[in-house]
Amino acid sequence: MNKGSRREISDLIVQHDPLGQARVPVERAAVVAELAELGQVRAARIVSRMPATGGILDEEYVNGVLFRSHAELQRLSEEFLQPQRVLALLRPTVAAYRAHATRTPIRVVDFGCGLGYLIRWLAAKGDLGPDVELIGVDFNDSLVNAASAAAKAESLKCRFVTGDVFALDEPATIVTSVGVLHHFAAQSLESLFRAHETAGVAAFMHYDIAPTWPAPLGAWLFHAARMREPLARQDGVLSAVRAHDDETLTSAARAGTSSYRIGVFGTPFALFPVTRIIRPVVGIRPELVDQLRRGLGRMHRHLNLE
Ligand SMILES: C[S@@+](CC[C@H](N)C(=O)[O-])C[C@H]1O[C@@H](n2cnc3c(N)ncnc32)[C@H](O)[C@@H]1O
Repeated sequence: MNKGSRREISDLIVQHDPLGQARVPVERAAVVAELAELGQVRAARIVSRMPATGGILDEEYVNGVLFRSHAELQRLSEEFLQPQRVLALLRPTVAAYRAHATRTPIRVVDFGCGLGYLIRWLAAKGDLGPDVELIGVDFNDSLVNAASAAAKAESLKCRFVTGDVFALDEPATIVTSVGVLHHFAAQSLESLFRAHETAGVAAFMHYDIAPTWPAPLGAWLFHAARMREPLARQDGVLSAVRAHDDETLTSAARAGTSSYRIGVFGTPFALFPVTRIIRPVVGIRPELVDQLRRGLGRMHRHLNLE
Protein backbone atom coordinates (compact mmCIF):
# COMPACT_ATOMS: atom_id res chain seq x y z
CA MET A 1 0.00 0.00 0.00
CA ASN A 2 1.11 3.55 -0.74
CA LYS A 3 2.39 4.95 2.57
CA GLY A 4 0.70 8.28 1.83
CA SER A 5 -2.74 6.71 1.66
CA ARG A 6 -2.68 5.57 5.29
CA ARG A 7 -4.55 7.92 7.61
CA GLU A 8 -3.82 9.24 11.05
CA ILE A 9 -6.65 8.72 13.52
CA SER A 10 -6.48 12.37 14.61
CA ASP A 11 -7.22 13.50 11.04
CA LEU A 12 -10.39 11.41 10.95
CA ILE A 13 -12.01 11.80 14.36
CA VAL A 14 -12.15 15.60 14.12
CA GLN A 15 -13.75 17.12 11.07
CA HIS A 16 -14.63 20.69 10.16
CA ASP A 17 -16.83 22.47 7.67
CA PRO A 18 -15.02 23.46 4.44
CA LEU A 19 -14.05 26.86 5.92
CA GLY A 20 -12.36 25.10 8.83
CA GLN A 21 -14.47 26.95 11.37
CA ALA A 22 -17.26 24.77 12.75
CA ARG A 23 -16.74 21.17 13.90
CA VAL A 24 -19.08 18.68 12.28
CA PRO A 25 -20.32 15.41 13.82
CA VAL A 26 -18.18 12.38 12.99
CA GLU A 27 -19.70 8.94 12.46
CA ARG A 28 -17.67 6.35 14.31
CA ALA A 29 -18.60 3.49 11.95
CA ALA A 30 -17.46 5.48 8.90
CA VAL A 31 -14.03 6.15 10.46
CA VAL A 32 -13.65 2.51 11.53
CA ALA A 33 -14.62 1.33 8.03
CA GLU A 34 -12.16 3.71 6.34
CA LEU A 35 -9.27 2.58 8.54
CA ALA A 36 -10.18 -1.09 8.13
CA GLU A 37 -10.31 -0.69 4.35
CA LEU A 38 -6.81 0.82 4.41
CA GLY A 39 -5.63 -2.23 6.36
CA GLN A 40 -5.03 -0.17 9.54
CA VAL A 41 -6.52 -2.79 11.84
CA ARG A 42 -5.08 -1.48 15.10
CA ALA A 43 -6.15 2.09 14.34
CA ALA A 44 -9.67 0.85 13.48
CA ARG A 45 -9.79 -0.97 16.82
CA ILE A 46 -8.75 2.16 18.75
CA VAL A 47 -11.57 4.17 17.18
CA SER A 48 -14.14 1.39 17.58
CA ARG A 49 -13.54 1.60 21.37
CA MET A 50 -14.26 5.32 21.54
CA PRO A 51 -17.68 6.19 23.00
CA ALA A 52 -20.41 7.35 20.61
CA THR A 53 -24.01 8.47 20.94
CA GLY A 54 -26.34 7.51 18.12
CA GLY A 55 -23.24 6.45 16.18
CA ILE A 56 -21.64 9.91 16.51
CA LEU A 57 -18.27 10.08 18.28
CA ASP A 58 -18.43 11.76 21.67
CA GLU A 59 -16.78 15.15 21.10
CA GLU A 60 -15.74 15.61 24.69
CA TYR A 61 -14.07 12.22 24.78
CA VAL A 62 -12.28 12.97 21.50
CA ASN A 63 -11.10 16.33 22.87
CA GLY A 64 -9.70 14.56 25.92
CA VAL A 65 -7.79 12.02 23.83
CA LEU A 66 -6.34 14.76 21.63
CA PHE A 67 -5.42 16.87 24.67
CA ARG A 68 -3.53 13.97 26.26
CA SER A 69 -1.84 13.07 22.96
CA HIS A 70 -0.71 16.65 22.39
CA ALA A 71 0.53 16.88 25.97
CA GLU A 72 2.70 13.81 25.26
CA LEU A 73 3.82 15.44 22.01
CA GLN A 74 4.76 18.56 23.95
CA ARG A 75 6.94 16.48 26.24
CA LEU A 76 8.72 15.03 23.19
CA SER A 77 9.25 18.58 21.85
CA GLU A 78 10.74 19.57 25.19
CA GLU A 79 13.11 16.60 25.13
CA PHE A 80 14.20 17.30 21.55
CA LEU A 81 14.65 21.04 22.32
CA GLN A 82 12.34 21.78 19.40
CA PRO A 83 11.57 25.43 20.31
CA GLN A 84 15.31 26.13 20.63
CA ARG A 85 15.82 24.67 17.13
CA VAL A 86 13.06 26.87 15.71
CA LEU A 87 14.46 29.93 17.46
CA ALA A 88 17.93 29.36 15.94
CA LEU A 89 16.42 30.02 12.50
CA LEU A 90 13.54 32.27 13.50
CA ARG A 91 15.61 34.89 15.32
CA PRO A 92 17.85 35.72 12.30
CA THR A 93 14.79 35.58 10.02
CA VAL A 94 12.98 38.12 12.19
CA ALA A 95 16.13 40.28 12.22
CA ALA A 96 16.41 40.06 8.43
CA TYR A 97 12.78 41.09 8.04
CA ARG A 98 13.19 43.90 10.55
CA ALA A 99 16.11 45.29 8.53
CA HIS A 100 13.82 45.54 5.47
CA ALA A 101 10.57 45.98 7.39
CA THR A 102 7.69 47.33 5.47
CA ARG A 103 5.12 46.16 8.02
CA THR A 104 5.03 46.15 11.79
CA PRO A 105 4.27 44.41 14.03
CA ILE A 106 6.17 41.38 12.81
CA ARG A 107 3.65 38.59 13.17
CA VAL A 108 5.08 35.13 13.80
CA VAL A 109 2.35 32.56 13.36
CA ASP A 110 2.55 28.88 14.29
CA PHE A 111 0.32 26.94 11.94
CA GLY A 112 -1.30 23.83 13.51
CA CYS A 113 -0.11 24.98 16.94
CA GLY A 114 -1.85 22.24 18.96
CA LEU A 115 -1.41 23.11 22.64
CA GLY A 116 0.75 26.07 21.61
CA TYR A 117 3.96 24.92 23.26
CA LEU A 118 6.22 26.55 20.65
CA ILE A 119 4.46 29.93 20.81
CA ARG A 120 4.26 29.83 24.62
CA TRP A 121 7.96 28.94 24.83
CA LEU A 122 8.87 31.77 22.43
CA ALA A 123 6.76 34.18 24.49
CA ALA A 124 8.47 33.08 27.70
CA LYS A 125 12.04 32.71 26.48
CA GLY A 126 12.36 33.75 22.83
CA ASP A 127 13.11 37.43 23.48
CA LEU A 128 12.32 38.30 19.87
CA GLY A 129 11.57 41.96 20.58
CA PRO A 130 8.56 44.16 21.39
CA ASP A 131 7.67 44.55 17.69
CA VAL A 132 7.02 40.80 17.35
CA GLU A 133 3.54 39.36 17.86
CA LEU A 134 3.25 35.65 18.59
CA ILE A 135 0.13 33.85 17.41
CA GLY A 136 -0.82 30.17 17.31
CA VAL A 137 -3.48 28.97 14.90
CA ASP A 138 -5.17 25.59 14.80
CA PHE A 139 -8.34 24.14 13.33
CA ASN A 140 -9.10 22.44 16.59
CA ASP A 141 -10.87 24.80 18.99
CA SER A 142 -10.46 22.57 22.04
CA LEU A 143 -6.65 22.64 21.62
CA VAL A 144 -6.71 26.38 20.96
CA ASN A 145 -8.73 26.93 24.16
CA ALA A 146 -6.25 24.83 26.15
CA ALA A 147 -3.32 26.76 24.62
CA SER A 148 -4.98 30.10 25.52
CA ALA A 149 -5.64 28.94 29.10
CA ALA A 150 -2.01 27.81 29.53
CA ALA A 151 -0.73 31.16 28.19
CA LYS A 152 -3.10 33.08 30.47
CA ALA A 153 -1.99 31.09 33.52
CA GLU A 154 1.58 32.27 32.88
CA SER A 155 0.60 35.79 31.73
CA LEU A 156 2.43 35.20 28.46
CA LYS A 157 2.32 37.77 25.68
CA CYS A 158 0.90 35.66 22.87
CA ARG A 159 -2.49 34.56 21.59
CA PHE A 160 -4.24 31.64 19.97
CA VAL A 161 -6.84 31.64 17.22
CA THR A 162 -9.09 28.91 15.81
CA GLY A 163 -9.22 28.68 12.04
CA ASP A 164 -7.29 29.15 8.85
CA VAL A 165 -3.79 30.58 9.09
CA PHE A 166 -4.10 32.19 5.65
CA ALA A 167 -7.36 33.97 6.40
CA LEU A 168 -6.30 35.89 9.51
CA ASP A 169 -7.66 39.43 9.84
CA GLU A 170 -4.09 40.55 10.46
CA PRO A 171 -1.78 38.85 7.98
CA ALA A 172 1.16 36.72 9.10
CA THR A 173 4.72 37.90 8.44
CA ILE A 174 6.52 34.64 9.19
CA VAL A 175 4.72 31.29 9.30
CA THR A 176 6.14 28.28 11.05
CA SER A 177 4.85 24.84 11.94
CA VAL A 178 6.03 21.69 13.66
CA GLY A 179 4.78 18.26 12.66
CA VAL A 180 2.01 19.51 10.42
CA LEU A 181 3.12 19.09 6.78
CA HIS A 182 2.77 15.31 6.78
CA HIS A 183 -0.96 15.80 7.48
CA PHE A 184 -1.18 17.14 3.91
CA ALA A 185 -1.17 14.75 0.96
CA ALA A 186 1.73 15.32 -1.45
CA GLN A 187 -0.64 16.58 -4.15
CA SER A 188 -2.05 19.31 -1.88
CA LEU A 189 1.32 20.72 -0.80
CA GLU A 190 1.64 22.94 -3.85
CA SER A 191 -1.57 24.84 -3.04
CA LEU A 192 -0.55 25.03 0.63
CA PHE A 193 2.69 26.80 -0.34
CA ARG A 194 0.85 28.99 -2.86
CA ALA A 195 -1.40 30.19 -0.03
CA HIS A 196 1.67 31.65 1.73
CA GLU A 197 2.46 33.79 -1.28
CA THR A 198 -1.15 34.88 -1.75
CA ALA A 199 -1.35 35.90 1.92
CA GLY A 200 1.83 38.03 1.58
CA VAL A 201 3.94 35.95 3.98
CA ALA A 202 7.60 37.11 3.99
CA ALA A 203 9.12 33.80 5.11
CA PHE A 204 8.08 30.33 6.19
CA MET A 205 9.83 27.50 8.00
CA HIS A 206 7.90 24.28 8.35
CA TYR A 207 9.50 21.62 10.53
CA ASP A 208 8.62 18.00 10.05
CA ILE A 209 10.18 14.57 10.43
CA ALA A 210 12.79 13.75 7.80
CA PRO A 211 11.87 10.35 6.28
CA THR A 212 15.34 8.89 6.72
CA TRP A 213 15.96 5.15 6.96
CA PRO A 214 15.92 4.98 10.79
CA ALA A 215 12.95 7.39 11.21
CA PRO A 216 10.15 4.76 11.48
CA LEU A 217 12.20 2.65 13.90
CA GLY A 218 13.18 5.71 15.95
CA ALA A 219 9.57 6.93 16.02
CA TRP A 220 8.39 3.51 17.13
CA LEU A 221 11.00 3.36 19.91
CA PHE A 222 10.25 6.85 21.21
CA HIS A 223 6.50 6.43 21.05
CA ALA A 224 6.57 3.01 22.71
CA ALA A 225 8.82 4.32 25.47
CA ARG A 226 7.31 7.76 26.03
CA MET A 227 3.68 7.79 24.85
CA ARG A 228 0.82 6.32 26.86
CA GLU A 229 -2.21 7.30 24.77
CA PRO A 230 -2.92 4.61 22.11
CA LEU A 231 -3.83 7.29 19.53
CA ALA A 232 -0.54 9.12 20.14
CA ARG A 233 1.46 5.92 19.67
CA GLN A 234 -0.40 4.97 16.52
CA ASP A 235 -0.34 8.40 14.85
CA GLY A 236 3.20 9.19 15.97
CA VAL A 237 4.70 6.18 14.25
CA LEU A 238 2.60 6.70 11.13
CA SER A 239 3.71 10.33 10.90
CA ALA A 240 7.32 9.17 10.46
CA VAL A 241 6.21 6.79 7.70
CA ARG A 242 4.12 9.42 5.91
CA ALA A 243 6.60 12.31 6.22
CA HIS A 244 7.53 14.01 2.95
CA ASP A 245 11.11 13.95 1.74
CA ASP A 246 13.16 17.07 0.94
CA GLU A 247 12.59 16.76 -2.80
CA THR A 248 8.78 16.49 -2.46
CA LEU A 249 8.64 19.52 -0.17
CA THR A 250 11.00 21.79 -2.08
CA SER A 251 9.57 20.98 -5.50
CA ALA A 252 6.01 21.59 -4.25
CA ALA A 253 7.12 24.91 -2.73
CA ARG A 254 8.85 25.91 -5.98
CA ALA A 255 5.89 24.85 -8.11
CA GLY A 256 3.40 26.68 -5.90
CA THR A 257 5.28 29.97 -5.50
CA SER A 258 7.52 32.29 -7.51
CA SER A 259 8.68 34.93 -5.05
CA TYR A 260 10.66 32.92 -2.50
CA ARG A 261 14.10 31.34 -2.34
CA ILE A 262 13.33 27.79 -1.26
CA GLY A 263 15.40 25.15 0.49
CA VAL A 264 15.92 22.93 3.48
CA PHE A 265 17.80 23.91 6.64
CA GLY A 266 19.99 21.13 7.95
CA THR A 267 19.44 18.27 5.52
CA PRO A 268 20.13 14.99 7.39
CA PHE A 269 23.41 13.23 6.70
CA ALA A 270 22.73 10.20 4.52
CA LEU A 271 24.64 7.66 6.63
CA PHE A 272 24.04 9.07 10.08
CA PRO A 273 20.73 10.92 9.85
CA VAL A 274 19.70 10.76 13.51
CA THR A 275 21.19 14.17 14.29
CA ARG A 276 18.63 15.93 12.12
CA ILE A 277 15.39 14.17 12.79
CA ILE A 278 13.17 17.18 12.32
CA ARG A 279 14.21 19.74 9.72
CA PRO A 280 12.36 22.62 8.09
CA VAL A 281 11.52 23.42 4.51
CA VAL A 282 12.23 27.13 4.22
CA GLY A 283 10.95 29.86 1.91
CA ILE A 284 12.14 33.44 2.16
CA ARG A 285 11.85 36.57 0.07
CA PRO A 286 15.12 37.05 -1.88
CA GLU A 287 15.86 40.49 -0.43
CA LEU A 288 16.08 38.95 3.08
CA VAL A 289 18.50 36.15 2.22
CA ASP A 290 21.87 37.91 2.66
CA GLN A 291 20.87 39.30 6.02
CA LEU A 292 19.55 35.91 7.13
CA ARG A 293 22.82 34.24 6.16
CA ARG A 294 24.81 36.82 8.12
CA GLY A 295 22.54 36.28 11.12
CA LEU A 296 22.99 32.51 10.95
CA GLY A 297 26.77 32.83 11.20
CA ARG A 298 28.49 29.46 10.75
CA MET A 299 25.12 27.71 10.52
CA HIS A 300 24.42 29.38 7.15
CA ARG A 301 26.26 26.44 5.52
CA HIS A 302 23.30 24.25 6.44
CA LEU A 303 20.81 26.41 4.55
CA ASN A 304 20.61 25.33 0.92
CA LEU A 305 18.46 27.91 -0.82
CA GLU A 306 17.69 28.02 -4.53
C1 LIG B 1 0.64 16.62 15.00
S1 LIG B 1 -0.24 18.03 15.55
C2 LIG B 1 1.13 19.11 15.91
C3 LIG B 1 0.76 20.12 16.93
C4 LIG B 1 1.88 21.06 17.35
N1 LIG B 1 2.45 21.75 16.22
C5 LIG B 1 2.94 20.31 18.12
O1 LIG B 1 4.07 20.21 17.63
O2 LIG B 1 2.64 19.85 19.22
C6 LIG B 1 -0.91 18.70 14.08
C7 LIG B 1 -1.84 19.85 14.36
O3 LIG B 1 -2.13 20.47 13.11
C8 LIG B 1 -3.48 20.87 13.11
N2 LIG B 1 -3.84 21.02 11.71
C9 LIG B 1 -3.75 20.10 10.73
N3 LIG B 1 -4.15 20.63 9.55
C10 LIG B 1 -4.47 21.92 9.82
C11 LIG B 1 -4.94 22.98 9.04
N4 LIG B 1 -5.17 22.86 7.74
N5 LIG B 1 -5.15 24.19 9.63
C12 LIG B 1 -4.93 24.35 10.95
N6 LIG B 1 -4.49 23.37 11.75
C13 LIG B 1 -4.26 22.17 11.19
C14 LIG B 1 -4.21 19.77 13.86
O4 LIG B 1 -5.43 20.23 14.39
C15 LIG B 1 -3.18 19.43 14.95
O5 LIG B 1 -3.42 20.17 16.12
